[in-house]
Amino acid sequence: MTKAKELEEKLDKAKLPQHVAIIMDGNGRWARKRDLPRVAGHRAGVKSVREIVRACGEIGIKVLTLYAFSVENWKRPRREVDTLMRLLRESLRRELPNLNKNQVRLRAIGRLKELPPKVQEALEKAIKSTEGNEGLILNLAINYGGRSEIVDAVKSLAKDVEKGVCKPDEVSEEIFEKYLYTSHVPDPDLLIRTSGEHRVSNFLLWQVSYSEIWITPVYWPDFRRHHLLGALLDYQERKRRFGGI
Ligand code: FPP
Repeated sequence: MTKAKELEEKLDKAKLPQHVAIIMDGNGRWARKRDLPRVAGHRAGVKSVREIVRACGEIGIKVLTLYAFSVENWKRPRREVDTLMRLLRESLRRELPNLNKNQVRLRAIGRLKELPPKVQEALEKAIKSTEGNEGLILNLAINYGGRSEIVDAVKSLAKDVEKGVCKPDEVSEEIFEKYLYTSHVPDPDLLIRTSGEHRVSNFLLWQVSYSEIWITPVYWPDFRRHHLLGALLDYQERKRRFGGI
């Protein structure tokens, strides 16, 4: 029996996290260790994305959010940014039939209007084409920042207050959340970060308030189904108290 199969048998299907969010880190270090250019790490990272999306669908996770590109990532060298954008566009085009075959529904969060037009087109096409699928929701965070998300939410809420849609004193956590990019999904139950860093890096700041965090030293291009299962099993051991006792 493979390691993944063995771990999967231990999983309690009734206690799965509904929403798993992943900070896919370590592509650059993976490449450096092999004397390869950083972009080779991103290319290898796409393979992990494919495997983890498939695994989440098969295991029965409802939502998977992947941090694919942050608002800060534009500061990277031009060549690297261009490669990441090309990889996104190509992966969306290439994987679309597969997403449909596996009933995956694609969504995206972030300042999407600032993305190169070709990436926006590929995204819109994939989102539309997978709209009716009923399996895993794959939520890609692209040009995403937790702080900019909160600022964007405050702006739209302020506009609604100005229009009289709601009064300042009526604003509650429940109302505020409806203005976040993630209003279509529950908060993540489990946040995974690869490559050993202990940081949140401006990812889903509001939404991870009560998420369980699982960090592995494994670089993202090496992250496989059995690592995901390790995280899920560890999650199932946790006692979530949400501030209570
Ligand atoms: C972090 O590694 C990774 C990224 C900033 C990008 C992740 C993108 C992909 C895996 C490819 C495209 C995604 C999809 C959804 C098809 P890093 O470069 O920060 O690594 P380092 O910390 O070792 O330098």
